[in-house]
Amino acid sequence: MKAIKLKEDIYWVGAIDWGIRNFHGYSTQRGTTYNAFLLIDEKITLIDTVKYHLIDEMLDRISDVINPADIDYVISNHVEQDHSGSLPEIMAIARNATLVTSPNGEKGLRAHYKENWNFHVAKMGEVLNIGERNLTFVHTPMVHWPDNMVTYLPEDQILFSNDAFGQHIATSERFVDELPLDIVLEEAQKYYANIVLPYGAQVKKALGALAGLKLDIIAPSHGVIWRSDIPTILNEYEKWSGNVTEKKAVIVYDTMWNSTEMIAEKITEAFQNQGYKTRLFDLKKNHISDIMTEVINAQYICVGSPTLNNNIMPTVASFLTYLKGLAPKKRFGLAFGSYGWGGQSIGQVEQYLKDCGFETLENIRIQYIPDEDQLEEIKEKLEGKLS
Ligand code: FEO
Repeated sequence: MKAIKLKEDIYWVGAIDWGIRNFHGYSTQRGTTYNAFLLIDEKITLIDTVKYHLIDEMLDRISDVINPADIDYVISNHVEQDHSGSLPEIMAIARNATLVTSPNGEKGLRAHYKENWNFHVAKMGEVLNIGERNLTFVHTPMVHWPDNMVTYLPEDQILFSNDAFGQHIATSERFVDELPLDIVLEEAQKYYANIVLPYGAQVKKALGALAGLKLDIIAPSHGVIWRSDIPTILNEYEKWSGNVTEKKAVIVYDTMWNSTEMIAEKITEAFQNQGYKTRLFDLKKNHISDIMTEVINAQYICVGSPTLNNNIMPTVASFLTYLKGLAPKKRFGLAFGSYGWGGQSIGQVEQYLKDCGFETLENIRIQYIPDEDQLEEIKEKLEGKLS
């Protein structure tokens, strides 16, 4: 397999995971890549590795350029196993290599692999000379784990950003400009919404630490590489990390006998009539990670569940648990649903939305099947609140 050149003596040597469709709960319908990079200088440097099952693909690509045993430095920007999984084998092949990582990276790698490798712990802002080039290490904790750092190469103006700016896309094309931009941005948005969203404050801090760097290329650890559209993705990260929302409502529900669905559709109509973009999701037909892609910039999150055994439906519970963990901020919530006798689910959904920190509207509850008059009343009351 071939290494792919980013610039003179700088190569992509990662691996393509064509078949993955579930990345710890995130539906990856386009697959993904694990990006590793090889720098040929006086000291040969490998930045990150790949998931273990794809190590042969990475070794093949490295061997297209040099003998892997000749690697002098291995930079580990992130401990998570999609990037560190092949470290044990690489460190066994490149026996004299120094492993460079952040302080939390060292702790995490020791805990994961129980190996006494030749660690070099990089301080914040530390510079490592590898010949004609200098690598600068910037700690970016919680983007996405406490150990994360990024590596900046000033001579070539490349930021090896690890998880930041990534997308789960498996393609033979390696650069953003080789794919339709809307697909890349949609996947970058989905990635942010499902991986990075809880850490907006830390993203802001990281963007601040990187401000002023000249960026010709941003090379993330997943998906395609930004050698174009860099201001666009930086601008999106500013918005997402700032919880900037649009006049938009996401309506999410499950239903037993279509009554909660009828309410969901009427709520959707009310938002549309008031000029909101709307997205309506039946949880039986949509994956929660796809819904989060739409939640990221929505002002209103409306969640409906009928009452099942004095509780909310399991699909709705799953969505609410996921939503709470990803912690979008500055939102409004609306709970709704139909019920037969107890009707506990609506209050439970509302409490969940409050626990998310959302300001909630008065909930909507209908016993058994809503009739036309009740549906009209739901629409008119909600329109009145939104106007
Ligand atoms: Fe791509 Fe946090 O690992």
